[in-house]
Amino acid sequence: MKKKLTFLGIETSCDETAASVVQENEEGTANVLSNIVSSQFKQHEKFGGIVPEIAARAHVENIDLVIQQALDKSKKKIKDIDGIATTAGPGLIVCLNIGYNIGKSIATFGKKHFLPINHLEGHALSPGIENKISFPYLLLLVSGGHSQYLIVKNLNNYKQIGTTIDDAVGEAFDKTAKILNLGYPGGPNIEKFSKLGNKNSYELPQPIINRAGCNLSLAGLKTDVLRKSKNIKSDQDRYNLAASFQETVNKILKKKTIVAMNIFREDTSDNSLKAFVIAGGVAANESIRKSLKHLSEKMNFKPIFPSKDFCGDNAAMIAWAGIQRYKNKLFENKNDLPISRWPLDDEAPFLKGSGLKL
Ligand code: KG4
Ligand code: ZN
Repeated sequence: MKKKLTFLGIETSCDETAASVVQENEEGTANVLSNIVSSQFKQHEKFGGIVPEIAARAHVENIDLVIQQALDKSKKKIKDIDGIATTAGPGLIVCLNIGYNIGKSIATFGKKHFLPINHLEGHALSPGIENKISFPYLLLLVSGGHSQYLIVKNLNNYKQIGTTIDDAVGEAFDKTAKILNLGYPGGPNIEKFSKLGNKNSYELPQPIINRAGCNLSLAGLKTDVLRKSKNIKSDQDRYNLAASFQETVNKILKKKTIVAMNIFREDTSDNSLKAFVIAGGVAANESIRKSLKHLSEKMNFKPIFPSKDFCGDNAAMIAWAGIQRYKNKLFENKNDLPISRWPLDDEAPFLKGSGLKL
């Protein structure tokens, strides 16, 4: 029987210290033998956002323990591991360096293969952990730092068809939660408190909704929440505003996803059933999952959404990307040292803050 590859994944690009042991299986998906995520949200909570130096220090404190836990839980030892995959970017450079250095050191001293991984590729391939998924597929990657529509043509071949021109969707959730005093991290709290509010109580803007293809803009929405928050008189008003914000994000994503699906059809000249994937932290949001699942079925796309454990930052997706790249002999990556900016599609224009020509 052919040996099944087993990889250790390490992720420290932002505020989660994570390690995971993943083994490929006969079905072409993954057996996640362990998936340890140590969140730092308590350290950053009082600042209402991530402080890079505090994040880096917390990674240093935890990374060895997290890796040990991942190995123990998986019942594997370093000698059983074929390769080590570590996030090399994009992210906070002081944080990336920590996971990268420990990953490379273990690989060097243990004589293992070392694969530097693009964090966004980890998210992009994450649906393959649990599902057999064929290329090409449409991906909506929505996290705290990124919001993009991509055509995943193949491994290592991504075409960006839309992006945010200002805030990322997760960033808009986090900033809105801060404005409404709903705590940190914002996404899960907005989702929680929206359940107590009326989503139709506030009319909020949907910037560039009928323009600019499937590019997104969320800054104006957040600013309008700020404006309306000045007239809040009760907790109920806050919950209503949170629910209206979430509902507006849902409307924006629904409309822009229709545009993205049409662009995907044109680009691939293929009208057969294809997968639509949402990945990244925001993909954990139940109301967004529900609305985009419904839309996919209407538009002849098969919704494949990773389970919540693989939506937010985790190392299983990094180990899995490592296994895929190794199997396809993609041992080298475009960046082999930690780097803060690393788009999946080099050709894509950088629109953030550049003033989109509409
Ligand atoms: O992918 P991720 O863990 O880290 C980045 O790569 O950025 O995404 C984190 C983001 C945060 O902005 C967080 O507020 C958001 O994902 N998020 C959510 C939910 N859970 C996490 N946003 C909306 N609803 C959620 N349930
Ligand atoms: Zn992420």
